[in-house]
Amino acid sequence: MAFWAAPVTIILALLTWTSLSLWKNLQTARQIGLPVVLSPVTPLNPFWILTWRIFPQILSLKHLPFGLGTWARCVYMGWSFDDKHALHDELGDVFIVVTPGGNEVVVADPETAHVVFSRRKEYIKPAVMYEQLNVFGPNLNTVEGEDWQRHRRLTAPSFSEKVSALVWNESLRQAQDMSSSWYRMGSRGTRTLVEDTATLTLHVLTSAGFGMSYPFSHGSQKPSDGHEMTYRHSLAICLSNIITFAIVPKKLLTLRWLPSRLRTLGQAVKEFQCYMDELLAHERTSRRTMPGNRNLVSAMLEASEESQLSVGKDTGSKLSLADNEIFGNIFAYSLAGHETTANTVAAALVLLAANPGYQQWLAEEIDSVCSTSSNPETWGYDTTFPKLQRCLAVMYETLRLYGSIVFIPKAASADSVQSLPYRGVSYKIPPSTFVTINVQALHTDQRTWGPDSLTWRPNRWFQTSDEAAVSLTNPKPGTFVPWADGPRNCPGQKFAQVEFVAVMATLFAGLRVKPVLQQGQTEPVGRSLLQSVVDGSRISAITLQMQEPKKVALEWFKRP
Ligand code: HEM
Ligand SMILES: *[C@@H]1O[C@H](CO)[C@@H](O)[C@H](O)[C@H]1NC(C)=O
Repeated sequence: MAFWAAPVTIILALLTWTSLSLWKNLQTARQIGLPVVLSPVTPLNPFWILTWRIFPQILSLKHLPFGLGTWARCVYMGWSFDDKHALHDELGDVFIVVTPGGNEVVVADPETAHVVFSRRKEYIKPAVMYEQLNVFGPNLNTVEGEDWQRHRRLTAPSFSEKVSALVWNESLRQAQDMSSSWYRMGSRGTRTLVEDTATLTLHVLTSAGFGMSYPFSHGSQKPSDGHEMTYRHSLAICLSNIITFAIVPKKLLTLRWLPSRLRTLGQAVKEFQCYMDELLAHERTSRRTMPGNRNLVSAMLEASEESQLSVGKDTGSKLSLADNEIFGNIFAYSLAGHETTANTVAAALVLLAANPGYQQWLAEEIDSVCSTSSNPETWGYDTTFPKLQRCLAVMYETLRLYGSIVFIPKAASADSVQSLPYRGVSYKIPPSTFVTINVQALHTDQRTWGPDSLTWRPNRWFQTSDEAAVSLTNPKPGTFVPWADGPRNCPGQKFAQVEFVAVMATLFAGLRVKPVLQQGQTEPVGRSLLQSVVDGSRISAITLQMQEPKKVALEWFKRP
C-alpha cells in the first residue's frame, strides 16, 4: 500500500461520515418544518473551535456569494452579537442550523422565547456546556430537576432586601474610592477602567456575599494567617481560568511538573477551598451567637439548616445542602455575578463618556434625589435606590445592546419530543435538540425597539415626556431578557441593579468623564473612538467584553 493510503482513507471516511450525518440531520430538520441553514461544521466541535479561535480569518467565509457562507455567520461563540437581527431578517424569527453533530433551533420570537424560558422541565440547560462550573461542587447553575428545585429554594433567601442593603452600602464605599483614584489621575486620564470595575464588583461580592471586606486599593493586602494568597486573589485566579477547568481535571492541577500558570491555578484552587472551609466553619459558629441573614452564605446556611430541622434528621438529607453544594454555590455566585456586573458597569461608563448629554441627564436626577447630602454614605438604600430610575435606565439600555449574555443555550429534554409554539403552529422538536435563545436578536428587533434599535438611548425607557416617571416602561414578555426569564432566571438581578445604580450615583454626583484626546484629535473623533471600543466587544470566555478598553484614556473631572 502506498504511504498516502492511510491519511486518504481517514479523510474519505471523515467526509463520508460528515455527509451522512449532515444528510440525516437535514431530514430531521425538514420534518420539523422550519427554515434551515446547512453548516459543514459543528459549533461545539473542539477542532472547529480551535480553528476559528486561532485563525479567525476563516470566518470571512461568511461573505461568500449566493448564500454559500451563511453557515459561517452562526457557528461560532458570540456570533449573535456580530449579526444582531440580520440573519433573522433573512430567514425568519425561528430557524434551524443543521450541522453534522446535530441540529440547533435558534429562537428570536419573543412569544416563543417566553415559552421556552417558562418550561424549565421541557427545555433544560444543556449539561455539556456547564460541566466545568462544577469545580467546587454541584450548584444552582449546573443542577436540574428536583435537585435544582432544592438548590433554588435554599438559595432564594440569599437574595433578600437585607442583602440588597449590604450591596448598596458596600458599592457606595467602593465607588467613592474608585472615583477618587480616577480623579487623582487628572488630565492624563485613566486606562484601568476594566481592571478597576472588576476589582469593585469582586469586592462587593466578597463583602455582601461572604462577609469579607476589602479596601478598593488593595495593593498592600496581606494573605490571612496560614494562607499564601488572599481570598480575593485566589478567587480571581479561579474565575479567570474557568475555561481551563473544562480541559484540565482539577486533580491534575496539583502535580509538580505542570507549567507554572497551571501550578498557580492549582494553588489558587487549594487556597480558595481552604478559605471556604474556614468561612463555613466561621458562619456555623457565629450563627449560634448572632442569628440573622448577614450575607449570601449565612442566608443559604440558615435556610439549609432550618429545612433539615423541620423534617427531622432521618429524611433531612435530601432537603438541605451538603457542604460541597454550599461551596459550589459560593463559587457559582462569584462566577455568575462578577464578570457580568463588571462588564456592564465598564461598558456603561464608556458609553456615557461618549454621550455627555446623558451624563447631564443622570446628574439632574442624582441632584434631585440626593439633594440632602453630597456624602454618599448618608444615602439610604430604601429611600434612594428606588428613585434613581435614570441610573437604572442606563443599565437596561447597556444590557440591551451590550449585555454580558448574548445567547442562552437550552436543549429539549431527552425523554420525549417537545412542542415549540411559533405563530400559531406547534412544531415538534426531537429529544435533546439544542434550542438557543438569541438574546441579542431579541434586543435589536426593530419591531420591538423601533427604527433606532441599534442606538444606545437610555431615555427610551421612559414613555415620551414622562421622564419624571417613578418606574421604567415594562417591555413585553420575551423582548428584554438580559437576565433570562421564567423560573431559571438570574437570581442576582436585583443584586446587580443595586450595585450598578450605587456606582453611577456616586460617580456622577461629583464628576464628569470625557475621552483624553490625542494631538490634533477633535472631541467628536474621541467620542466615536469610544463608541467603537464598545462596538468591538466580543465573547472572551463566557461573557461579552470590550477587547480594546485601553485604546482611549478617560479623564474624570469635577462637574462644571
Ligand atoms: C448584570 C449582571 C448579570 C447578568 C447580565 C446576569 C445574567 C444571567 C443570565 C442570563 C442567567 C441565565 C443563564 C442560563 O440560563 O444559562 C443567569 C443565571 C444566574 N445568575 Fe446572573 N447575571 C448577572 C448578575 C448576577 C449576580 C450579581 C449574581 C449573584 C450574586 C448572579 C447569579 C446567578 C446564578 C446563581 C444563576 C443561575 C440560576 C439558575 O440556574 O437557577 N447573577 N444570570
Ligand atoms: C448601611 O449604611 C447605613 C448608613 O451608614 C446604615 O445605617 C445601615 O445600617 C447600613 N445597612 C446595612 C445593611 O449594613
